[in-house]
Amino acid sequence: MERRKFIIRSMQAGAAIAIPFAVSCSKDEDDDILLPGDDITIDLDSSQYSTLKTAGNSVTLQGIIVANTGNEVFVALSSVCTHQGCTINYSHANTNFPCPCHGSVFSAQGSVLQGPATTAVKKYTVTRDGNVLTITG
Ligand code: FES
Repeated sequence: MERRKFIIRSMQAGAAIAIPFAVSCSKDEDDDILLPGDDITIDLDSSQYSTLKTAGNSVTLQGIIVANTGNEVFVALSSVCTHQGCTINYSHANTNFPCPCHGSVFSAQGSVLQGPATTAVKKYTVTRDGNVLTITG
């Protein structure tokens, strides 16, 4: 099993694991945590993610920020800013994703609205079945 798949699967299982290697925050690392064909499920009824039921709230997990943008629309983007690797946030007031480090702003589609970042963040597909979201790589 590939290292990233092992980490994702271990985290999905809720296992507390000690990762015996350093994790870099460099943007040159593999920023797309969720590989094509992989997925993450989020149970909105769980205490960990129930805040996502409310429009304007977001959670970040496994290098992905998931935001409830209202009207039952959920957006999932890579949370890793393409400028220098900081973690982006969600601004419900502006329906965009600002980076707190140097001011880059990304749209709900992941495109750059404001630099210094020049590259879009990856957008993931989100589907909903009842109160379970599935984010697909
Ligand atoms: S790391 Fe996000 S704007 Fe610089």
